[in-house]
Amino acid sequence: MPQDLVPVTQSLGDIYAEAQCDEQRKRYQHLIERFESIYGAKPDFIARSPGRVNIIGEHIDYAGFPVFPMAVDRDCLIAVSASTSDTKVRICNIDEEKYPAREFDYSKECIVEIDASIHEWTNYFKSGYKGMLERLELDKDPVGMNCLMDGSVPSGGGISSSAAFVCTAAMATMKANKKSLGKSDIVQIAIESERYVGVNSGGMDQTASVMSQAGSATFIEFEPEFRTIPVKFPSTQPAVSFVVANTMVTADKVVSAPYCYNLRVVETSVGAMLLAKELGLLDKRPQTFKQVMDIYFAGQDEPKFASETEQWIHRLNKMLCLVEKHIVKREGYTELEMSEAVGLPADEFASRFLSKFPVSAELFQLYTRAIHVFSESLRVVRFRDICESTRSTASNAEEIFTRLGDLMNQSQKSCRENFNCSCLELDELTEISRAAGAYGSRLTGAGWGGCTVSLVPEDKVESFISRVSEDYFRKKQPGITAEQLSNVIFASRPSSGAYFYTF
Ligand code: GLA
Repeated sequence: MPQDLVPVTQSLGDIYAEAQCDEQRKRYQHLIERFESIYGAKPDFIARSPGRVNIIGEHIDYAGFPVFPMAVDRDCLIAVSASTSDTKVRICNIDEEKYPAREFDYSKECIVEIDASIHEWTNYFKSGYKGMLERLELDKDPVGMNCLMDGSVPSGGGISSSAAFVCTAAMATMKANKKSLGKSDIVQIAIESERYVGVNSGGMDQTASVMSQAGSATFIEFEPEFRTIPVKFPSTQPAVSFVVANTMVTADKVVSAPYCYNLRVVETSVGAMLLAKELGLLDKRPQTFKQVMDIYFAGQDEPKFASETEQWIHRLNKMLCLVEKHIVKREGYTELEMSEAVGLPADEFASRFLSKFPVSAELFQLYTRAIHVFSESLRVVRFRDICESTRSTASNAEEIFTRLGDLMNQSQKSCRENFNCSCLELDELTEISRAAGAYGSRLTGAGWGGCTVSLVPEDKVESFISRVSEDYFRKKQPGITAEQLSNVIFASRPSSGAYFYTF
């Protein structure tokens, strides 16, 4: 099937909700004017890709299981003009104090060098640039690029400013070089290239950023095939709304990767291999828990299921039983114990699992991580099912909110207890949010700081935000201004994915 292309529009009304268009028009105008004053001419186009909030399904994308994010209306814009006189890339930021202007040149040998050990804002641009040029394999040198970026996704906050930036940079590089790849290709390139900055992340953020559709969350399946299905929230009265709140604890995925994010990727991959070995499936070489599940059930007689959801529920519950039975060491495994358990010599084990992205741990928690992955996947499937199958009537909004909210609360509990990716502030903020009227509240994104997402009826959003502002934000930062508050707590509707804007 031919892939969808990133749409090109001249109308901001295609990208943003009506109520936001005036404000966005000013923002785009300002970007274009600044661009002209820096580079002496108008940009050729603006590439745009949004941040995302994950509603449910945390740390299961890299285990191959579906997740349920939506794009937010905060995004990354890069205004670009191409120059054929050289191959240099000049990149400036609207916030030039925080993000100083940089320049680099294309190199035939490595395209561009990226030093992941230095925390440098343009690393994300370089990642998208490099990933795209590797894929494009141009028969001549790439064009030079003048770029000006304006990002409204708060950084280090768990709503994927980095993925929005990498996706936008990849798109900008593609269009400047007059090429046109489909959305799925762009997503794959952005996923691969974000790994240049040192985090072995899954594919949720980039997919949500590029593929989202306004008005819907996206059910993203990774295996056996990459697929995105837009899902609308139940049309309750009042409508359901999601409020993002930032703990103000900056979660730098890159810095903490060896004992947080990348370690979890190792724990779940080793867990999958261990389970495969115990179930006699190693000859099929499954890499993820989802592949183990698919291979296991390919060889089983199963009852007839009334729906796909029922099949998911049956399979995931069975997997939870298999984890209980086969991942036996509840206190965790040493490196040596893991290599013995999966039947690999220590050096081969280390080179397969521990060398690409360095990790550090005494004990690897294979059991609790596996319990999280399968139980969280069950919650995702149930959440989607409620959205798709619930007929809303005037009287049952409360019941729908409660069912969806419960799943989010259980997700938070499992993130905290089984996956250890919460932190004190995330626990505190989710509790305050529930006390302030959220039906469900959980960390969103990688965790260890960053943001929470809370389900709040639309007519209660204002009072919810003011209560959480009092009970959390004003306590943490007594002098916080209204503008600062609007960046750390805000409601967002499901927004559109990537776009090119031309004029
Ligand atoms: C980060 C990663 C995603 C995903 C989440 C956790 O945002 O980039 O791929 O793994 O963490 O759900």
